[in-house]
Amino acid sequence: MSELTFLEAISAEKADIEKHLKFYLDSLHIPGVLHEAMSYSLSAGGKRLRPFLSIAVCNMLGKPKELIMPYACALEFVHTFSLIHDDLPALDNDDLRRGKPSCHKAFREDIAILAGDALNTDAFSLLFEFGEGNIKRAGRYFAKAVGGRGMTLGQIYDCTIPENERTAEKLDFINYYKTSELFIAATAGAAAWLDADEKEVKALEDFAAEAGIAFQISDDILDITSTTEKLGKPVGSDAELNKMTYPALMGLDGARRAVAERTEKAKAALSSAFKENEWMKILLQFADYVRDMAK
Ligand code: IPE
Ligand code: IPE
Ligand code: MG
Ligand code: MG
Ligand code: MG
Repeated sequence: MSELTFLEAISAEKADIEKHLKFYLDSLHIPGVLHEAMSYSLSAGGKRLRPFLSIAVCNMLGKPKELIMPYACALEFVHTFSLIHDDLPALDNDDLRRGKPSCHKAFREDIAILAGDALNTDAFSLLFEFGEGNIKRAGRYFAKAVGGRGMTLGQIYDCTIPENERTAEKLDFINYYKTSELFIAATAGAAAWLDADEKEVKALEDFAAEAGIAFQISDDILDITSTTEKLGKPVGSDAELNKMTYPALMGLDGARRAVAERTEKAKAALSSAFKENEWMKILLQFADYVRDMAK
């Protein structure tokens, strides 16, 4: 059988990820509109990149997939929480997400805030109640990625950075927290969950740090070059809110060059610690996908 490509592999895993997301959410027996709002945003689609990356790491390490599913789905819970809150009027004020009305539009703002809160916290329910991995080691990555030393910190900087402090270095720093941290949890954290060697965990951390920054730059390029129909979220949102982005700082070409440099660094980090196997190559192709998504 020929080897899978990244795109074939993620499309093959998507249905299983979505089945597990529903299973874990339903198993929590959350009542009423809170369950409805959480389920609405969780099942709205999305690329499922973060849970897929955890599965890819698991396969690369030769471990059984069942071991990683609670961890992979917990990541999609926190990612979905981050998107619900990111779209709120007080943050990016975007009314469309994953091709559907944003949570605060489909429900109400109060409900969306609370659905986000519950998804954030119940991600940890998944780790504690369904998981059999190394929770102490992986939990460090997971919790750090979400909280005041991770994504939430990045979002604060994104919302508050003054005009006269905008530099590429500052932006790398913000994108690292905003976006790389969850990718680090998806890869290095997954490896820690599966008791991988420290050297492997560290290489995945470097891989995801670079790929995550590249991913956010590509997302910022697409906010200018793509269409609302294709992205399933409003384009032009960054310019409207005067966000600091690579395209705003150095134009589209400069932004694309930065993406290419970051993705090469990501691939080098991975190659430094892992021998080529089918799933290692799929992770390398993920970096190429990030490089090419906004070409
Ligand atoms: C969007 O992430 C938020 C960013 C970090 C740019 P994704 O592009 O992975 O969103 P979904 O999960 O596919 O909707
Ligand atoms: C947000 O970045 C990343 C998060 C931590 C949620 P964006 O604000 O650019 O994400 P989109 O474009 O709304 O998905
Ligand atoms: Mg935002
Ligand atoms: Mg946004
Ligand atoms: Mg964006």
